[in-house]
Amino acid sequence: MPNNRFYITTPIYYVNDVPHIGHAYTSLACDVIARFMKLAGKEVWYLSGTDEHGQKVEKSALNNGLSPQEFTDKMSVNFRNLLKALNISNSDFIRTTEDRHKLGVKAFWNRLYENGDVYLGKYSGWYSVRDEAFYDESELTSEGLAPTGAPVEWLEEPSYFFALSKWQNKLLEFYEANPEFIVPKTRRNEVISFVKNGLIDLSISRASFKWGIPVPGDEKHIIYVWLDALTNYISALGYPDKTGNYSKFWPADAHVVGKDILRFHAVYWPAFLMAAGLPLPKSIIAHGWWTNEGQKISKSLGNVIDPFKLIEDFGLDQVRYFLMREVIFGNDGNYSQDNLIQRSNTELSNKIGNLIQRTCSFIFKNCEQKIPDVSQEFIEKMYQDVFFVQLQNIVKDIITQMANYNINAVLDYIMYITEQSNIYIDREAPWSLKNLDPRKMNEVLYRIVETVRYIGILMQPFIPDSAAKILDQLSVPENNRNFRHLTKEFAIKPCTRISEPRPIFPRLEIRN
Ligand code: MSP
Repeated sequence: MPNNRFYITTPIYYVNDVPHIGHAYTSLACDVIARFMKLAGKEVWYLSGTDEHGQKVEKSALNNGLSPQEFTDKMSVNFRNLLKALNISNSDFIRTTEDRHKLGVKAFWNRLYENGDVYLGKYSGWYSVRDEAFYDESELTSEGLAPTGAPVEWLEEPSYFFALSKWQNKLLEFYEANPEFIVPKTRRNEVISFVKNGLIDLSISRASFKWGIPVPGDEKHIIYVWLDALTNYISALGYPDKTGNYSKFWPADAHVVGKDILRFHAVYWPAFLMAAGLPLPKSIIAHGWWTNEGQKISKSLGNVIDPFKLIEDFGLDQVRYFLMREVIFGNDGNYSQDNLIQRSNTELSNKIGNLIQRTCSFIFKNCEQKIPDVSQEFIEKMYQDVFFVQLQNIVKDIITQMANYNINAVLDYIMYITEQSNIYIDREAPWSLKNLDPRKMNEVLYRIVETVRYIGILMQPFIPDSAAKILDQLSVPENNRNFRHLTKEFAIKPCTRISEPRPIFPRLEIRN
């Protein structure tokens, strides 16, 4: 029986910082995929959360004059608020300071330990608190910084190690056997060459600070924050209890991450899971990074983009649409206010909005406020002509594209359908048919509203509120809005009453 469940995760966000566009983007990409899969008929579990342990968070708490617990309680709320503000459909939100998570991490540690993959040794080498990552001397830049530009410090302390080197060949075999594991392909090659270059055992505990989960049986040591954090993907499903959500949703279908944290997800996490004897996730999807008006985003440059402000200034769906439309998923992207306004005004307001507004206003005034009256034979015939056959094929292809996380292809198709409909309405000019050929006028208008039903249904994952307005406008019943309703059988019922049309996408103006 094909698996009809779908489990998707965001990275869990560090609470040392306030939410910015990068966090918004990862959450949003997951949301679009999650909503899409739900509409495609899957049972979806979407997890997000906050990463609250480690030296970096401990330092930020101290700088703010708060205890780590007080600090994380306060900061974690910002991320929940971000998800709300973005209309994210997550099913759960995990904090690594919760008991359910600590329980899962300890059990996972014990499993690795019992399986002989953990041993006590001494770490001496470079560590970056900002990245919470260990670096080999050979990886440092000529200025002595981490490859990410973060400062590093020399560490020498007793530490537990994970026998990562032992898993090198198993990992390579796994990548080979599962070409879809790392998306996109270019990133896959990067990971494979990193692993081929040789893996060394990984330090997985720290003894010089306290804010974290103690190593079971040796409480002087704190579990390395990445081992702690990665385990959220199973602890949130109830692990070590393997009944319930764990049995329903593990292994995950998709861990969506930024390219900067791919190594942790595509190398360390699968190695940990192999060592623990647990199934591996089906794919790790790495997206690119956003710059601001061409510049790298950083606190020191003062050009961090506040997603709450963006939403306030330009509207939620406008921001959601821009972030998903502007870059090819996987590539880097550039935020520019002009581009956001341009995208929203030309595509949402002029193309989609205008198509709906002029069609529905005309219908409202000239067809007794009802979906035009056409015969069942006409609908049958319409569904056989070139455009509607193409529309059915597009729907099929959209589902295939999304199975490969090709988000942009979906939007390209939606724009194509919209453009074709605008060309059609201009060519057929239904307003000129009112007296000449009212039957033809009804047919032309019906064709457009039925196409708009497709646009509305397909747009739901991207702009859920506005898509709902589109479908409400056409009185499409709420329980008829899934992808399986994109067929002739669920075509809009002629003579259904419609409400008075109101513009759905206001035009945007430049803000300072
Ligand atoms: N806590 C870790 C993840 C642990 S997952 C087991 C972490 N957190 S983070 O808050 O620093 O980053 C979270 C996500 O935001 C990452 O996927 C990262 O790539 C993304 N972004 C941070 N800045 C970004 C941009 N400027 N652009 C796009 N995404 C970026 O890493």
